[in-house]
Amino acid sequence: MKKIIIGNWKMNPATYEEAKEIAAKTRAVASKLKKVDVVACPPFPFIDALITREDNSSLALGAQSVSEFESGSHTGQVSAKMLKSLGVEYVIVGHSEEREYGDTNARIAKRIQSVLDVGLTAVVCVGEKVRDEHGAYMDFIRTQMKETFAGVPIDKARKIIVAYEPVWAIGAKEAMKSEQIYEMALFVKKVFSDTFGAEVALKLKVLYGGSVNAKNAGEIMTVGKVDGLLVGRESVSITGFPDLLKVVEEVS
Ligand code: PGA
Repeated sequence: MKKIIIGNWKMNPATYEEAKEIAAKTRAVASKLKKVDVVACPPFPFIDALITREDNSSLALGAQSVSEFESGSHTGQVSAKMLKSLGVEYVIVGHSEEREYGDTNARIAKRIQSVLDVGLTAVVCVGEKVRDEHGAYMDFIRTQMKETFAGVPIDKARKIIVAYEPVWAIGAKEAMKSEQIYEMALFVKKVFSDTFGAEVALKLKVLYGGSVNAKNAGEIMTVGKVDGLLVGRESVSITGFPDLLKVVEEVS
């Protein structure tokens, strides 16, 4: 199975000029990779201009969020159909920074359905806020998955990617330890299998996210045995992200 690296640019960079430069550098490296698919998720206003329709094979585009509604009077929102019509292929749903502003599992479930209904891939973020000694974080993640996947039919579950992002490791100094990442990736696959069956779960891609950079990416991929990475800050670094992509290609 090919690995996948998704760059979540968040609310960066400040200008379209910078965005073009980051995308061009990323695309140049991505076009040389054989074992890794690369996706960039820029802020909404930059998406259309960054899609080069001739060469979407090397750098796919994703969005960082989506409305749960199809169309209508929803000021400020962007629908899955609009994203699809631009050539977007992936949509991040349920990121912890959106959950911070009040996104609930029920609302995230609707957003996932709107993504899957138009045939795009939903990159669903799950992760605990804190780690306790008794393993309550496992129940927390199980509940996040069960509630956000409620109502997804098995055939559509094939278009889900799960990004495990422990909230305490996002925007932090260090990533989670790779041994723990391995344990959590297995746990996510198990819950997915309980929900959709073993056959679908075997093909599920589980990503890790939270303070990933070119230095720790290799170990996270090999020891953590994940299918890819969701990269925040480092994904808008002109030198850091190309280095990270090369490392992942080497170890894959
Ligand atoms: P970070 O963010 O890599 O900057 O920690 C990861 C994310 O929020 O997806």
